[in-house]
Amino acid sequence: MRQKEFLYGGDYNPEQWLDSPAILEKDIEYMKKAHINEVTLGTFAWSTIEPEEGLFKFDWLRQILDSLYENEINVILSTPSAARPKWLADAYPEVLRVNADRTKNIFGGRHNHCYTSPEYRRLVYRVDRKISEQFGNHPAVKLWHISNEFGGECHCPLCQVAFQQWLKKKYGAIQVLNKAWNTIFWSHDYLSFEQIESPSPKGEEMLHGLNLDWKRFVTDQTADFIAWEKKAIKEGGSELPTTTNMMYDYRGLNYHKIKDLIDVISWDNYPTWHKEAEAVTALDTAFQHDFMRSLLKKPFLLKESCPSATNWQSVSKLKAPGLLTAASLQAIAHGSDSVMYFQIRQSRGASEKFHGAVIDHYGKADTRVFKEVTELGKKLINLSEIVGTTTKSRVAIIHDSESRWAMEDSQGPRNKGLHYMDTVKKIYGGLRRQGLNVDILDMEYELDGYDIIFAPMLYMFRSGIESKIRAFVASGGIFIMTYWSGIVDENDLCHLGGTPHQLMDVFGLRSMELDALYDKDSNTGVSNGVFFNKDKQYECRNFCDLIKADTAKTLLTYESGFYKGYPAFVQNKYGKGTAYYVCADFEESFYIDLCQKLVEDKELDQIPITIPEGVSVTTRENERQVFLFIQNFGDESVNIKIPGEWKQLLGTGSIIHKYETMVFSKEKN
Ligand code: GAL
Repeated sequence: MRQKEFLYGGDYNPEQWLDSPAILEKDIEYMKKAHINEVTLGTFAWSTIEPEEGLFKFDWLRQILDSLYENEINVILSTPSAARPKWLADAYPEVLRVNADRTKNIFGGRHNHCYTSPEYRRLVYRVDRKISEQFGNHPAVKLWHISNEFGGECHCPLCQVAFQQWLKKKYGAIQVLNKAWNTIFWSHDYLSFEQIESPSPKGEEMLHGLNLDWKRFVTDQTADFIAWEKKAIKEGGSELPTTTNMMYDYRGLNYHKIKDLIDVISWDNYPTWHKEAEAVTALDTAFQHDFMRSLLKKPFLLKESCPSATNWQSVSKLKAPGLLTAASLQAIAHGSDSVMYFQIRQSRGASEKFHGAVIDHYGKADTRVFKEVTELGKKLINLSEIVGTTTKSRVAIIHDSESRWAMEDSQGPRNKGLHYMDTVKKIYGGLRRQGLNVDILDMEYELDGYDIIFAPMLYMFRSGIESKIRAFVASGGIFIMTYWSGIVDENDLCHLGGTPHQLMDVFGLRSMELDALYDKDSNTGVSNGVFFNKDKQYECRNFCDLIKADTAKTLLTYESGFYKGYPAFVQNKYGKGTAYYVCADFEESFYIDLCQKLVEDKELDQIPITIPEGVSVTTRENERQVFLFIQNFGDESVNIKIPGEWKQLLGTGSIIHKYETMVFSKEKN
């Protein structure tokens, strides 16, 4: 989808106001006032579109689309499959989900349908196709939004059969599956695929291969459902691009298996601002933006965000003045081509009546929130030349859904918390402190084109990652891997013969034993002056890997315990590159120092400014220009001097206060 301006708008559910034409008219007036140029329609409108089976009502939607078009407001049109009407659930009970404990749901809620059910698929296809026939070529419509926040799983008899077939296709023969899952342990061998049932708290929950394949199946079944909806849209005559909105750190699906089905990545961002220090929340959110952008390595859409307070978090905290703008521009800074809200007009009743909106129950434009929304709309217009620009990253972190599923399910080495995401974020924070754009990759990506890659807790090796890492380092890359890497294969079977599997020569070591620490315990990595200054030491918790260094050079050693003096951080030259192995779960300052040192040593081309804590620096670019974003999420105002010939597009002067954003541009040489 080509755009000239940032898409600015959000979810709009006018079906709630069809009996109040004056309100619908006001909505358009207010949208124009706030510089809103997009709305997403129809997301939960199935019962208005098809109030009875086979009876379709489109006039209301056509009138709204026409009037939005007349007012130059673009539409992202949803398929309504995320919530089914009551008549549908009553007539076809098979569409309702069965839970892992095998209890059957009754009607209600949103994501309460089975993606396998042929009846659900038939009815979704029919309504999607009709919507596409009616509006797929309407000039207001620019993009399809498929369903809403796909998620959850169903364990009904239809899903059981589909899972068995999926397994049969994958393994061919039951003996192959038994071997891959090591079912002989506890006498759990299967004699046929038909005997297999999905994991359940009432039955099998500890067969890791089964759990892992079930999660893969759920992703594939969801992806297949998305493809099915796309087919309906296409067969209805529309060739418009598609998106589906993804969720924050959602572990139920492997988004990497969905990304190629859609044209534009979009996601819903609801941070709990003000709960922790703003800089902490901002870093966490930045990581998610980067994860989403990296899926297709092109601009994404911020599909939903809240203009004031949500109503589903434990505390409905208002955003302090300026934060709405800062959070929205943060998405732009990390590669979004939109700012969209849930929702344009607040509902009067039902579950989201107290969820924040651009237009609240008071219904007028002179509110604090509306004013900030309007101000932001103006700013976005002034930044229009940034639309479509991309983000170039020289550094990346490998963060793989399948490996994480397996690791978090594995029973040991630390059932009370692996602190995986904490570790990922310490690394991410270290890189961001250097002002570097960061890509987040899974193991299926190629690694070429990066200078520095981190792989925290890469428990599972799959997709030939061993060979990719070897080639990356051999050709001059810097690769940093931590403890608990290269432990299992793609079936979650432990590698034999030493770990990290097939990379012991690249890292110049073998991991002998992994000590897990109680929460009260810690150790310290002490510098020998070879890499970090001699006086440096870093606390570590949770995990201490006891390695046998072969060609690896020791840079830190453990200070205490029976492994006092063992290496805690090592470096190994391999080919033209360098591999580092981090043995323990070190504190944040370790990663801050490490990233700084690696970036200095590699002489990465950075924006040459000192970045104070809480300040975030990112860039976007096209062939001609680079755009530089500086945002302050810290409590203190800071003075930032930008060297060189930068034109300031947003903000004035060099002092940047809390929540402020400065944007600069520069022609490329
Ligand atoms: C999202 C959802 C929206 C709305 C919103 C409220 O997860 O997609 O429909 O419910 O949350 O914050």
